[in-house]
Parts: sequence; C-alpha cells; structure tokens
Amino acid sequence: MSDLQALTEVGRISRGQRVLVIGASGGVGSYAGQLARVFESEVTAVCSTSKLGYVRSLGADHVLDYTCQDFADGPHRYDLILDIAENSSLSRLRRALTPAGTLVIVGGEEGGRWTGGFGRSLRAPILSAFVPQRLTMLASKERASDQEQLAALMAAGTVTPSVDSTYPLDHVGEAMRRLEAGDVRGKIAITI
Ligand SMILES: NC(=O)c1ccc[n+]([C@@H]2O[C@H](COP(=O)([O-])OP(=O)(O)OC[C@H]3O[C@@H](n4cnc5c(N)ncnc54)[C@H](OP(=O)(O)O)[C@@H]3O)[C@@H](O)[C@H]2O)c1
Repeated sequence: MSDLQALTEVGRISRGQRVLVIGASGGVGSYAGQLARVFESEVTAVCSTSKLGYVRSLGADHVLDYTCQDFADGPHRYDLILDIAENSSLSRLRRALTPAGTLVIVGGEEGGRWTGGFGRSLRAPILSAFVPQRLTMLASKERASDQEQLAALMAAGTVTPSVDSTYPLDHVGEAMRRLEAGDVRGKIAITI
C-alpha cells in the first residue's frame, strides 16, 4: 500500500510521466514500478546488477544498475522520483528531477544522531518551500480502500504480486537474514 500511496496521494502521478523508482527490486519497489505503468508512465528502475532482469520482467521501460550507473548523471530528468532506497542526498535527487518535478522519500537513511534516520525526510519539506520542485516524504497509512484497489488490479492481472519465497513462522530468522543480505526479489511471505 505504501507503493500506491507514494505514487498517487503523495506523488500525485499523472498519465505519461517519466517516473524513476530507486529501489525497484525490493518489497515496496516491485509494486511501485508496476503501479506506475498503470498510469502509462515511462518507468526507469534502479537496482543492483543481479536483479536487472527481474525488474525488467516486472515491466520497467529502462533499468539502471546502481553499482555502476548514476541516475543523476546524463541527460534524463524525471517528473516523479520515488526514493525507496536510503542513500541519495537531496541535492543528487533534485538534480535528476525536472524543474517542476516531485520527489517522494519512502526509505529512511542510516545515521543521524538527532534525526534517527529521518534527516532527509525532515529537510525535504522545508527545502520544498524555497524551490520550484515538490520534495515530500511518505508516511504510509493502513487503508481498506487501498487494499481493495490493489486486489482489483491483481485480479485483473494488471499487477502481479511478487513473492520471492514463503517461510513458516518458526523460520522467520532465516527470512530476515536473507532480507538483510539483499538476497530477496520482491517480498517474503510468512505463513502462520
Ligand atoms: N515511508 C513509509 O511509509 C514506508 C513504508 C514502507 C517501507 N518504507 C521503507 O522503505 C525502505 C525499503 O523497503 P523495502 O521493503 O522495499 O526494502 P527492501 O525489500 O530491502 O528493498 C530495498 C531496495 O533498495 C535497493 N537498494 C539498496 N541499496 C541501494 C543503493 N545503493 N542504490 C539504489 N538502490 C539500492 C535494493 O536494490 P538491490 O536489492 O538490487 O540491492 C532494493 O531494491 C525501507 O527503508 C523501509 O523502512 C517506508
């Protein structure tokens, strides 16, 4: 649901926009890229080398390998950026936005003695008041209407649930280790 809210309610996506999804191979990003395509967007997906084929299979128009490519370099600018990873500075993200583009920060960040990993998310709305770009953060909400919308898209085959693997509850430690190792494509499900 955070993927849907990041694109629609916070990102205010409109048809045909150029959308950059940073962290497109993860639990949130694997849905965000697919949902952006529902709006006929041109989607550029950022992930690591071994997952490029995976994000392409989810429908991304273009893929960028963060281990050797910088999304802020080159001529491309994006109308909407979802930053689901955790390590890009606001200046780098702004460089990749169109002059009136929108940034939605979904992921936190490491460090920040006083801000507890929310430094960018707190600075973005303040900076946004002084620049033409919209710099925002997502605080996702649990909502039945979002679940219904996602369920309808899945039932229609427009969005494919991307579950890497399923673990019983007593193997949750193993599942968490795989997540922490960056080994997972999409989501892990725990059966109870
Ligand atoms: N704001 C909210 O309301 C909200 C809601 C839900 C989640 N979140 C946050 O969103 C973040 C992601 O959640 P998730 O479940 O999607 O995590 P995840 O499944 O671990 O996915 C992380 C993603 O980040 C990518 N990534 C890692 N290092 C990167 C780098 N240096 N440059 C670019 N991309 C990089 C990974 O790519 P590879 O796997 O290819 O390395 C992967 O696609 C977390 O911080 C979570 O707390 C926030």
